Amino acid sequence: MKRIAILTSGGDAPGMNAAIRAVVRFGIDKGWDVFGVRKGFSGLISGDIVPLQVLDVGGIIQQGGTMLGSARCHEFETADGQMKALSQLIRHELEALIVIGGNGSQAGAYALSQLGFSIVGVASTIDNDLYGSDISIGVDTALNVSLEAMDRLKVTASSHHRAFLVEVMGRKCGYLALMAGIAGGAEVVIIPEVETDPETAATELRAAYDKGKASAIMVVAEGARYNAEEMAQYFQMHGERLGFELRVTKLGYVQRGGAPGSFDRLLGTRLGAEATEQLARGKHGVLVGHLKGEIAITPLAEVVANKKVLDLNLLKLARVLAG
Ligand code: F6P
Repeated sequence: MKRIAILTSGGDAPGMNAAIRAVVRFGIDKGWDVFGVRKGFSGLISGDIVPLQVLDVGGIIQQGGTMLGSARCHEFETADGQMKALSQLIRHELEALIVIGGNGSQAGAYALSQLGFSIVGVASTIDNDLYGSDISIGVDTALNVSLEAMDRLKVTASSHHRAFLVEVMGRKCGYLALMAGIAGGAEVVIIPEVETDPETAATELRAAYDKGKASAIMVVAEGARYNAEEMAQYFQMHGERLGFELRVTKLGYVQRGGAPGSFDRLLGTRLGAEATEQLARGKHGVLVGHLKGEIAITPLAEVVANKKVLDLNLLKLARVLAG
């Protein structure tokens, strides 16, 4: 008999629940016992592990967040923390662990697999910065939440002939900002990968008014060299010279909390199911992601050794489309 566990770690992402549900139901369908670890790696260290049955994961596919809870666990980054986690896995007679999460979580997954435990990772982060997956669980919903907010801001911006700065999440990656900028019709997009100073941003916004636009939206990634605060400060100091005001909206955690859309429900389901298939075939030490439109398997060693690169042609696209 196989006894497997599942945990969600790092920032929660809409669609994690779909992945949990798929792991539990596919695992049980294979005749395995499936356990849930509460609160990520910190719950693993403390042994907060509960059995999960088919009905325990009923009615969660439509819910955002994660029914298991999540955490950022600094203790698990230490060798001591990892050994404690490993001994809990052994104490509970578990044979494999599925880790749903982004970069930090998959680094943790890799560390455990290096200690000889069978691990399969599942790509999940709204930042979309994880190597081994073109698109991760949660990205699509987070993007749609950002777009809904931007569409509303554009309405009030037009009524008042104002410029708006919208800050989106993404840590050090500009993916969310760039996609929100393109799909939301932003005039300016500022991402960490390309440093843009406030004066240049102001010139680009000014150009929008000069072309006769009623409003101008600038999307700024939270990890940009000049973030929302710095941009806002600059615009406040130079408001008179620039000739327009800038209103700031930080979307923040709102982006993470949405109910998953169809894409994330299906992606979470497919990746979760495939994680169990990998274990059934005796495969581990890998990440289940989505590459070139297909489910893709990448060794965790490769995932942690590489950095996902943002396609900067998309920034050119955003600039031309800004008109
Ligand atoms: O990784 C997802 C993310 O939401 C990032 O976009 C953001 O920088 C970070 O998590 C926030 O982390 P925390 O939930 O620990 O505040």
